[in-house]
This record gives sequence, C-alpha cells and structure tokens, in this order.
Amino acid sequence: MCGIVGYIGKQEAVPILLDGLRRLEYRGYDSAGVTVYNQNKLNSCKTAGRLNKLEEMLQNSKLKGTLGIGHTRWATHGRPSDRNAHPHFDCNQKLSLVHNGIIENYIALKEWLQEKGHIFNSETDTEVLPHLIEEYYQGDLAEAVRQALKKVDGAFGLVVISDEHPGEIVAARKSSPLIIGLGKSENFVASDIPAVLPYTREIYILEDGEMAVLTADQVKLYDFSGSEHSKEIYHVEWDITAAEKGGYEDFMLKEIHEQAKAVHDTLTGKVDPIEMKVQLPEVKLSAREIGELEKVQIVACGTAYHAGMVGKYLIEKLARIPVEVEVASEFRYRDPMISPKSLTIIISQSGETADTLAGLREAKRLGSRVLAITNVVGSSVAREADDLILTLAGPEIAVASTKAYTTQLLSLYLLAIYLAQHRETISQNERVGMVEAMLHLPGQIEKVLNTETKIKEFAEDFKSCEDIFFIGRGLDYAVSLEGALKLKEISYIHAEAYAAGELKHGTLALIVEGVPVFAMATQPELYDKMISNIKEVKARDATVVALAVAGDHEISKSVDYVIHIPVTHTMLTPILSVVPLQLFAYYAAKARGCDVDKPRNLAKSVTVE
Ligand code: AGP
Repeated sequence: MCGIVGYIGKQEAVPILLDGLRRLEYRGYDSAGVTVYNQNKLNSCKTAGRLNKLEEMLQNSKLKGTLGIGHTRWATHGRPSDRNAHPHFDCNQKLSLVHNGIIENYIALKEWLQEKGHIFNSETDTEVLPHLIEEYYQGDLAEAVRQALKKVDGAFGLVVISDEHPGEIVAARKSSPLIIGLGKSENFVASDIPAVLPYTREIYILEDGEMAVLTADQVKLYDFSGSEHSKEIYHVEWDITAAEKGGYEDFMLKEIHEQAKAVHDTLTGKVDPIEMKVQLPEVKLSAREIGELEKVQIVACGTAYHAGMVGKYLIEKLARIPVEVEVASEFRYRDPMISPKSLTIIISQSGETADTLAGLREAKRLGSRVLAITNVVGSSVAREADDLILTLAGPEIAVASTKAYTTQLLSLYLLAIYLAQHRETISQNERVGMVEAMLHLPGQIEKVLNTETKIKEFAEDFKSCEDIFFIGRGLDYAVSLEGALKLKEISYIHAEAYAAGELKHGTLALIVEGVPVFAMATQPELYDKMISNIKEVKARDATVVALAVAGDHEISKSVDYVIHIPVTHTMLTPILSVVPLQLFAYYAAKARGCDVDKPRNLAKSVTVE
C-alpha cells in the first residue's frame, strides 16, 4: 500500500507534493520520491528511507516546476532501495509514473517489453507500466495509458506525466484508491483525502475502471474504453485537524482518545429515542429476508477480524443465527459453502484491504447478501456491498487500529439488536436495557480514558518483558485477541491471546515466574472459571493484571494489578475493556522507544495480498 500525490496548477509543485506525501506517510514509508516537469524536462529525486530523507535531499535542489507527482512506498515487489523507489520512467525519461497496487502479470510483460528492447532499472512490478505506455504512445498520453492497461492484470492506482504533455496529468484506478482534488486553477490527485484537504474539500472519488485527465483548469473523467462521463462531487466534511495530531504526541494516542466521540458519532441517528429501537437506514435487508437468514459469516483481517469475533457472540446470542468468523485470506480461497439465505458481513476500516475485498467478491459470486462495516466512504468495500454501516470514526491514521475497532464493535452491536428486533428473538425489556446501556458508552469510555496515568505507570513495569499473555473466556477471549495484537504490533513484545480454558492444554508450560498475564474477567457467568484460571497461572508465579468490572474488589486478592471498567451491559464490556489494553500497548511501545504510528514492516491498509 503506498501514498500517491499529483499536482498541476500555478504553484511550485514540490512543497505541495511533500506536504501531501507527509499526510499519506502512514500508507507506507520505506522509500519516497518525486518527479517535476520544468522547461521540457522531467526532473526526479527519489530515495530509500523515510520521507525526511527525501525532504533533506530536496532542500537545496533546484527541482522547480508547477506540474509534478510524488510517492511514498510500502514495498511489495523489490526491496526498499533507491532504484526501486517511485517514480519510475520509460527508456528515455519522457514519462514518469507512480503506482499503488500489484501488477500480477508483470513478469510476462517485462519479458515481452525487454524483447522489444526496453531497458529496466528496478526490481519492481510497477516499472512495466511506463515502458508499456511508451510502447503504445503515439502522441496521445491518455490513449497510450488506455491501450497499455488492456494488457495489465492486477491492481493499480496510477498517475503518469510526460514531458510532451506538460499541461496534464493522467490517472487511472483499478482496485487501489485514488481521489481527485478540485481546486481553483489547480487540481490534485492522491491516494487518500488528507493529502488534498489543505487545498480543497471538493473531490471526485475515482472508481474501478475510471481514468481522469487533469489540467490546471479542468478534470475530465473517462472509462477505460475512452468514453467521457461526469460524476458527483463529494464534499469532504473532515476538518483539517482531524487529519492532524491535534496536540497529541502520536496519531495513535489521539485516536484512542477520540473513541468516545467516534462511538457517539457512529451511534447518532441509529437509535429511535422514543421506541428505543435500533434503526439502520443504510441496511436494505427486508424483515422477511432477515427472518429467513440461516447463517451469517463474518469476513475480515487483523483487528477487524477480532471485532468480528465479538460480533459472533452478539449475533448468536441476540438474533439466534449461527455465525462463522474467518480471516479473509482463508475464506477467499476455500470455496466456502454459502447459501442464498446467508448474510456475509465484511468488516474493514480502510475498505481497501485486498483479502477482505476479495472475500466480499467471493461471497457475492456465491450468491450471498453482503453487508459492509467500513470507515471510508466511497471505498471499494463500501461501494460493492449490498448494505452498509459506516463507522463515523473519522480518518484513522495510525497503523494500529483503535477507534475503528470500537466503532466496529458498536456497529455489530447495533446490527445484532436490529436483526433480533426483526426476528423477535429479544424482548422489549431486553432491547431497551441494551439500548440504554449503549447510549451511556461515550461517557463511560471517557471514564476509562481517565485511568490513563495508572496504565502508563504499569506499562513501564512491563516494557522489558519478552512474552506477555492475554487470557479470557467468551467475549473476554475475543477482546484478548485484540489486546495481544495491539501490544505486539507496536511494541514488538511477543504477545499471545488464549482462551483461558485452553491454557492447561499446553501453553501453561510457558508460564513461569514473572511472566505477565492479562486476565480478562468481565463476564459474570464465566467469572468463577476465570478465577480458577488466574489461580492456575498464579500457582506458576505469573504476574497477573486483571481487567474487571467496577465494584469487583474480590479479584484483587488473587492478582498483582487490577484495572476496572465501568459497569455496563455484560455484552457491551468489549467496547470498554479494550481501551486499557490499547493504552497499555501504546505506553509499553513508547517506553521501548518504538515508532507507534509507523511500526516496522507494517502499513495502514494492506491493499495487496
Ligand atoms: C490493526 O491494528 C492492524 N494494523 C491490521 O491488522 C488491520 O486491522 C488489518 O490490516 C485490516 O485492515 P482494514 O480494517 O482496513 O481492512
């Protein structure tokens, strides 16, 4: 997944390109580069390493010009290096191109082009694109791009400029996101909205199979056959600070603290305050279809998958429908058994995760209704699903997902009640009790956030640990999975989550003196069993941090630390109990000097397999 920016207008391009790449650096940051047109020539600067290095290189350079493209990379084919950094060129440095995605048939294309005499400089799949366009170029840049793309298999968001067409930028999209920013006597193209927000709120969201030709004064849209069309302009409501750190040291901490607002915003408009019923206007499933549902499968990756694990408990308990939860990379290849009376729930913060999008398409191919829970309007997942629940968490920049997770949980809770309402599997009293508890969540999240200082202190105690275990039962097990992922992906401490009852079947062998164990004990009907599991690990001298519900002082006798969350409906505890785990992961990572917003080897949205 990479960051792309293009600019055409009257201002110097380099500052705008660098500013845009900085706002997209979360999309990949192992190398970066720009190309600018000036006096009949394309001049470029690119390097392995973070954007800072490129900025240093450009400080004294004379890279002038008002037409340019830029790129920040997350390597897929070809290791991070100067020559593998984008932009890439044709043989004669007359075309310069940046790309996000994977060209799946690049090896065959490269061989074909080399037989025609093209010379390649990099190990990347991307480099076949400028050479392919060069091969088809006969004076019309957009037409050459169209012809070239006919030979390409795979995913691309690409932007290309040419020294023979200094007044235009050509962009094309298939499976990798691209947006067009519409300015006054200037226009922008980028992988994501934050890159253009300082300049315009009016954007086109390119869809698969769409091309755009930008000049300083206009943007024309085409399909890949070349026919021109128009489309609705999307007005971005985000304020610029929403895409900045807002005074926090890191995006991740900002986004952890935004969860009360994110949950509130996602909840707004989804509860009928009179009837205390859930209303989901974007869900077009009829009452009959809901009544006839035989199975639900939830398909997602990473944190979104962990949200799905919670969703399973909620939907089965409330709507009494069997639910399977599966990582998308497995679901998409196992020829899943899907009936027309099934609902596939696709969960994806970015709405662009390649495996998840493939899972959506596979489910549709097999005849399933698809409902998406996503945070990005206009994303591929949002557009291709039959029904949609948008999490209104605002842009989530940190690689480690936090506010997207809690708003996904809320969306699943709303959906579970919605399905139960239509299937009449919960009483009015049960429903009202749950809805009332839900309405209190934003304030309760704020209360949990107020324990931040205490969590920061004991995160210091654990910063040198090599292994940390998370155990729980039922909903607490599902949250344990997320707690372990948060910790390991940003602090690099090895962390594992286990169903507490499973420990004695092997993993208990790893529990020795001083090994930290987070024991989640929020579920009343499983509480006694959890206490037994805590005693199991304490008998091996583990250091135990319990996460319990306010008022539970009994547990303090069995553990070393206790974190309390406010009392809420037992099925809502995950939205609260995950917050201390997020904060613990954040502060443990900070104590270890890690770059929490951009952890090694990772990227924010994995738009490649
Ligand atoms: C979240 O902390 C992880 N960085 C990652 O697992 C993420 O949840 C996963 O890649 C799915 O992303 P999506 O929600 O955008 O599809």
